[in-house]
Amino acid sequence: MDTERNDEFLEELKKHLCPDRLHHSLCVAQSAHELAMRYGADAQKAYTAGLLHDIMKNESDEALLHFFRENGIILTTTEQHSRKTWHAMAGALYCERELHVRDAEILSAIRWHTTGRAGMTLLDKVVFLADFISADRDYPGVERMREKAEVSMEAALLEGLQFTIQELVSQGRPVHEDSVRAYNELVCNRKG
Ligand SMILES: [Fe+2]
Ligand SMILES: [Fe+2]
Repeated sequence: MDTERNDEFLEELKKHLCPDRLHHSLCVAQSAHELAMRYGADAQKAYTAGLLHDIMKNESDEALLHFFRENGIILTTTEQHSRKTWHAMAGALYCERELHVRDAEILSAIRWHTTGRAGMTLLDKVVFLADFISADRDYPGVERMREKAEVSMEAALLEGLQFTIQELVSQGRPVHEDSVRAYNELVCNRKG
């Protein structure tokens, strides 16, 4: 079981990540575990997905583009201009092909942790949110996000997506279509 391989994954992470990013990964794993307990997701899977979610975060642009080429991945125009999304795509692929992670829910949560998507699974949501509220985060408004995440997963997700989209727009950068779809779905399904 992939969830029983955390010690092995931790050793693998040490080869890929700088100390700060490794610390972040451990914090996200912990936060994902807590959120999973709160919202009824699989807490073991949440921990493992949180641990692995940024495994490709410290790779260079060249290394990631090479990895995509090697694995036959063709980036969309938006993706070509959204460097921040690369590590999530590459991370899920690396975990599947190189670390032989077989659990589709864990791979999905890693894959979608940056952009979100329409139809996110509960585990996708847990890891996406854990990345925003983990103990190492200290951006303005993080306490509000943490409080929101304790009350409503959907409300916190929506705020996270609003934050991501607004930041990209204010910087004149492209917004990934999957983030727009995730945002629209949340807004359209919002009660009240
Ligand atoms: Fe990430
Ligand atoms: Fe992260």
